[in-house]
Amino acid sequence: MSNNLNILIIGDVLGKAGRRALRSHLPDLLDEHHIDFCVANGENLASGFGTTLKLADELFRVGVNVITNGNHCWDQRNFLKEIDEDDRLIRPANFSKYAPGHGWTIQATRNGFKVAVINLIGQAFMGTWDCPFEAADRVLEEIPDDVDAILVDLHAEATSEKMGMGWYLDGRVSMVYGTHTHVPTCDETIHSGGTAFQSDIGMTGSYNSVIGMKKEGALRRMVQRLPQRLEAVERGATVCATKIIVDTDTKQAQYIERICVRPRE
Ligand SMILES: [Fe+2]
Ligand SMILES: [Fe+2]
Repeated sequence: MSNNLNILIIGDVLGKAGRRALRSHLPDLLDEHHIDFCVANGENLASGFGTTLKLADELFRVGVNVITNGNHCWDQRNFLKEIDEDDRLIRPANFSKYAPGHGWTIQATRNGFKVAVINLIGQAFMGTWDCPFEAADRVLEEIPDDVDAILVDLHAEATSEKMGMGWYLDGRVSMVYGTHTHVPTCDETIHSGGTAFQSDIGMTGSYNSVIGMKKEGALRRMVQRLPQRLEAVERGATVCATKIIVDTDTKQAQYIERICVRPRE
C-alpha cells in the first residue's frame, strides 16, 4: 500500500453558488489529483448563514469526507440537533462545554487510511471562546497514534493567530490551515517540522461580491452605516482549495499546492 495520502482542503463554501460549483467541479478535481480525502468548511452553506444536514449531504454526495464549522455554526437553529446525527460534521473544539457535537473526528478513506480532522475557532476579533491552543493540546492527547494524517481547521480572523497556531502545532499535525476570511492567502508552505500551513484557503463562492454577499447591500452597510440584510450571490463561484500530500509513515506533509477553478458561467 502506498504511503502517500492525497488530501484536498476546501475553505468556506458559500451558499448556492458554492454548492453548485462543488457539484460541477469537485468530482473531476478529486479524480485529476488522485485525492483520497477531502474536507470542507460548511459554516456558510445555507445562503451564507450556517449549515443544515440536507445541505451538508449535498457536499458528502460529491466527495467531501468531513465538514468543519465556525462562528456561523448555529445560525440554522436545527443544526443544534442535526450536528449529532452525522459524525462527519464537526464544530470548533473550543466552543463551550455546553455545545452539542464534537470538535474532532476520525474518518477512513476508501483505501483504509484514517484521517483525523480537528476544528478550532480563533479568539482575536472573533468573540469569546475557550483557548484554541489549549483545546488543540487536549484533542491531540485524545487522538490515537494509529491515524495516518491530522488536519486542523483554525477558523479565525487574524492571520497572526493562525500563523501562531501553525508554529505551535508544527511537527505534531499534518496541516494547520485557516478558514473564515473568505479570501485565499498565497503563504502556503511546509514548516521545518513537517506541518503544512496556509493562513486562509479562501472561499468557494462568488468573488463578484463582498466576501460572498451581494455588493450593493454590503456597500450600503459600509457607506450609509444603516441596517441592511446581506444576501448571498447565487451564481458564478470560484472553487478555492489546497492539495497536500502526506507521508503516512511520519504524518508529515511533503507537498502543498493551491488550486483555483474559476467560473465558466
Ligand atoms: Fe465563512
Ligand atoms: Fe466564519
